[in-house]
Amino acid sequence: MKLGIYAGTFDPITYGHIDILKRALKIFDRVLVLVAKHPEKKSLFTAEERLEMVKEVIKDIENAEADKYCGLLVDYLRDKNATAVIRGMRVVSDFEYEFQMALMNRHLYPDIDIIFFFPSKEYTYLSSSIIKEVFLLGGDVSKFVPPYVIKKLEGKYRK
Ligand code: COA
Repeated sequence: MKLGIYAGTFDPITYGHIDILKRALKIFDRVLVLVAKHPEKKSLFTAEERLEMVKEVIKDIENAEADKYCGLLVDYLRDKNATAVIRGMRVVSDFEYEFQMALMNRHLYPDIDIIFFFPSKEYTYLSSSIIKEVFLLGGDVSKFVPPYVIKKLEGKYRK
């Protein structure tokens, strides 16, 4: 069974992430969406909330599962006996950061491989931050995030 770990912050998960997940499932038997912590990022949703959202929006996607982890990604991989990490590559400016992270992860865990997928073009300019900003200022984000995520954003910003 080929297991891929799709790691990210998912604050919140968007259709862009779901697009990458579905692409990865064409190659991997199982994909685990791992809500991980970026050490320098302050998130709007707690890790528990992010995981709960991910679980809800992927529940009908076969062979997709989710978990959360706080610590080094490579330690999680070792623990699961996994070696493949999935990441999305949106634009050229993603490359440098991804390259640095990939090689550092490989230094820490030589067995690792990072597999990149390009999202559909309508999602290449998406990020969780831009969704939050547009939503906060009253813009329509329904083309970019599932209705469940909109409900959760309302809970945070429009109580
Ligand atoms: N669609 C929409 N948005 C996308 C996307 C897609 N297909 N692909 C990436 N993005 C956005 C994300 O929403 C996020 O937006 P934001 O910055 O506004 O929140 C941004 O691109 C970055 O994406 P993300 O995949 O969440 O990466 P990250 O840099 O926040 O986190 C981790 C990367 C969590 C995998 C990394 O920090 C990690 O491995 N942490 C664990 C600790 C560790 O091992 N550190 C050492 C690493 S060498």
